[in-house]
Amino acid sequence: MSELRGRISGCGSYVPEFILSNAGIEKMVETTDAWITARTGIKQRRITLNEKTSVVAAKAAKEALAAASVSPRDIDLVITGTVTPDMVFPSTSCFVQQELGIRPGIPAFDISAACSGFLYALDCADKYIRAGGVKKALVIGVDIFSRILDWTDRATCVLFGDGAGAVVLTETRGKSGILSSHIHSDGRQWEMLYTPGSIGSNPFEERKHLPGPRNAYLKMKGNETFKVAVRTMGGAIKEELQANSLKPSDIALLIPHQANIRIIDAVGERLGLSSGQVFSNIDRYGNTSAASIPIALDEALKAGKIKKGDIVMFVSFGGGLTWASAAVRW
Ligand code: UT7
Repeated sequence: MSELRGRISGCGSYVPEFILSNAGIEKMVETTDAWITARTGIKQRRITLNEKTSVVAAKAAKEALAAASVSPRDIDLVITGTVTPDMVFPSTSCFVQQELGIRPGIPAFDISAACSGFLYALDCADKYIRAGGVKKALVIGVDIFSRILDWTDRATCVLFGDGAGAVVLTETRGKSGILSSHIHSDGRQWEMLYTPGSIGSNPFEERKHLPGPRNAYLKMKGNETFKVAVRTMGGAIKEELQANSLKPSDIALLIPHQANIRIIDAVGERLGLSSGQVFSNIDRYGNTSAASIPIALDEALKAGKIKKGDIVMFVSFGGGLTWASAAVRW
């Protein structure tokens, strides 16, 4: 009998209806479809005009529960990776618990790891399952970056989109499931990518940061972040391969965080992967932060790109800095 671990038994995703194309962005800032396409691979992104993060998350979670044929009453744990929650507190997970009628009393909490949020949450949920006690966990990645972007800054506003993805992780002793996962961070490099907007620095100051002057929006040193992302994600996949005595050719599908098609291609090249081994949907959604991997996984599953026994690899990189990876046998 294999060791106790989590197996992805269902996946779901949700992206808002409104499509903001590169042509639409051309009307907002000084940019071109040609520049965005060539430098990022993005053609369009989804933007939610009026939905809350928890509502977007709950839609993806509902689909994941249905795909896994699991009732909300059977969920033992909810973990959401997000840096754009509805409120400072309660957590997005608590709102999702209420929205979906998940059993009161179970633990529900959020993880802040920016674009690595989903893999941090997956790693955490898998470890709860391995420790015993949790049989079914709902793991969500959701972000609404459109609300933390400076829509006058062409260097960042063209890159991101909104959405959510979710999986149900079910206890198993079978051969399939999460073989290993690793999460990392390096706080020394936080200034590479961050969004200010805090609870303030003194108790009596006016809460000027709400709703937020220009300086409350996302900031990124794009060029440096690009290089660190390629190096770090390449290293993270190697760590996962080593942990399981696998070779790059054993990977049936790599689902990387969708930040930039040039980053994705460079990571694939570093490992000698063929284009068929690497999944990308960045052209349609841009960078959806914590949602990007579960949205991509959901699309890959629906497109029949993953079959039983396949080795699927996830890798992410984001603000913190944070990076994470997971190897899964389907
Ligand atoms: O998810 C978390 C991790 N995020 C990432 O990993 C993102 C990493 N970074 C990137 O993807 C890329 O660095 C960007 C897409 C953000 C930028 O691409 P780049 O090839 O690194 O461009 P750059 O920042 O070096 O800028 C090149 C030029 C600049 O003009 P000059 O100084 O050469 O005259 C920019 O002002 O492109 C200009 N530029 C633009 N031009 C048209 C920057 N943004 C735009 C734009 N449209 N939207």
